[in-house]
Amino acid sequence: MATSPLSSTSLTSFHHAFLLLLLLYPCCCLQKSFDAHNAKVTSFLAADVCNQSSKVDHNKGLSLELVHKHGPCFALNHDKNKTEKSSSYHEEMLLQDQVRVDSIHARFSRYQSQLSSAFKEMQTTVPIQSGIDMGTGNYVVTVALGTPKKEFTLVFDTGSDITWTQCEPCVGSCYRQAQPKFDPRKSSSYKNVSCSSASCNLIREAGGAKGCSSSTCLYQVAYGDGSYSMGFFATEKLTISSSDVFKNFLFGCGQENDGLLGKSAGLLGLGRSKLSLAFQTASKYKKLFSYCIPTLLSSTGHLSFGGKLPKSVKFTPLSPKFKNTPFYGIDITGISVGGRKLSVNASFFTKAGAIIDSGTVITRLQPTAYSVLSSTFQEFMKDYPMTDGVSILDTCYDFSDYDKVYVPKISIFLKGGIEIGVELQGIMIAVKGLEKVCLAFASTSDDSDIAILGNAQQKSYEVVHDLAKGRIGFAPGGCS
Ligand SMILES: *[C@@H]1O[C@H](CO)[C@@H](O)[C@H](O)[C@H]1NC(C)=O
Ligand SMILES: *[C@@H]1O[C@H](CO)[C@@H](O)[C@H](O)[C@H]1NC(C)=O
Ligand SMILES: *[C@@H]1O[C@H](CO)[C@@H](O)[C@H](O)[C@H]1NC(C)=O
Ligand SMILES: *[C@@H]1O[C@H](CO)[C@@H](O)[C@H](O)[C@H]1NC(C)=O
Repeated sequence: MATSPLSSTSLTSFHHAFLLLLLLYPCCCLQKSFDAHNAKVTSFLAADVCNQSSKVDHNKGLSLELVHKHGPCFALNHDKNKTEKSSSYHEEMLLQDQVRVDSIHARFSRYQSQLSSAFKEMQTTVPIQSGIDMGTGNYVVTVALGTPKKEFTLVFDTGSDITWTQCEPCVGSCYRQAQPKFDPRKSSSYKNVSCSSASCNLIREAGGAKGCSSSTCLYQVAYGDGSYSMGFFATEKLTISSSDVFKNFLFGCGQENDGLLGKSAGLLGLGRSKLSLAFQTASKYKKLFSYCIPTLLSSTGHLSFGGKLPKSVKFTPLSPKFKNTPFYGIDITGISVGGRKLSVNASFFTKAGAIIDSGTVITRLQPTAYSVLSSTFQEFMKDYPMTDGVSILDTCYDFSDYDKVYVPKISIFLKGGIEIGVELQGIMIAVKGLEKVCLAFASTSDDSDIAILGNAQQKSYEVVHDLAKGRIGFAPGGCS
């Protein structure tokens, strides 16, 4: 009986299947009618072990491994209480993120209102009181200093310029770091910078404060999140790789330091002023560097200097609006959700302007743009239960009853025909396990605030900073 395809039983089951298909039709239609990530909910959750996923070509000598300061790939990070799995991790991270954004906005308005001269005046003595810089970043890289050379893991930050590391004998005080601290007395290439030297004067334009002790140049940098470093301004041999060694690299030998730098040894500044590592290594790298932020905190990315550009890279010009500021300005031209362009036009975005920042996590948009993004996102997500927001995030869902979810794709468009297809982990972030998975974008307080393209939305892209040609490039698949 099973030989005939038209036997009554198979016909019935055929009918059933057909009916079932009809019933399911609107549902699968809905799922397919927009551009979505069909994701396992576990892809939002943190991993315990480091997955060394990125291509870091050590032989090329130009790439450094880039890892999160609180993630499992920072092998020297023993502070288990500060990992992504600890209950307070995300709330603290969001709090610090907002502090950084507030100080970016405050710092930008100082530039805008031509008050920069006022804050130059207060930089004649050390210490000064005000936070003149942004909070520090979240990712670290390892470089070597001194003769003989010693390795130091530093927070990498495109939002500030002065590179510094904690120095023995920590005349003031030092925080706990994973590696032994730099000891200038044990390096034959260490030299103090004199107070009268031109290098000492570069500290101010790099956003720091300078001072003098007898004839030795002192520096101080203070960040919006309360982190700070002060000490001797000095030159030292910087080793990025065996073939890439820079004599007389200007850096801060920090005798008094504190803040939110994890267990790192200090900070690596890749901003736009002359003290930036990008400028100090210009002879070799032509003021060009790029990085890839890994998709997960438990995987690795890289920071590369000079070298060849990826074939698929596309460039957007640095926005002239941010000339003579420390910021890497870009022009957002639009945003799409689920393949649908939001009804916010390019002129709206360019009016207030936008910057790209490696140290801000969550992308900030002006309230008008953010509300359209959030409401459009909610339309696509209407089948999932919403839950309360947390901190700066207000569009959150409870995924605890799901194995898989359809999350609309989000793209950010930049001048020059660039489309940044945001990774799933840059669209939503699990703030409290699967009970609270939130849209990873937030609103600024006013439409006149600058927007900030944060590192969550840059994940997996090779992000090229080409200072010589005044442009920022993006290439997909940068970490793999
Ligand atoms: C590690 O990363 C690679 C590339 O991203 C991925 O294919 C692999 O599944 C990951 N392994 C684990 C154990 O997560
Ligand atoms: C980690 O957290 C636990 C519980 O809050 C606390 O008892 C412990 O002292 C903390 N450890 C460190 C190193 O801070
Ligand atoms: C650098 O200056 C400090 C303070 O004047 C001094 O204690 C230290 O010995 C100097 N180091 C060198 C190598 O000159
Ligand atoms: C863009 O927005 C501005 C202000 O909202 C409006 O004046 C302008 O007509 C819009 N342009 C386009 C092309 O939609």
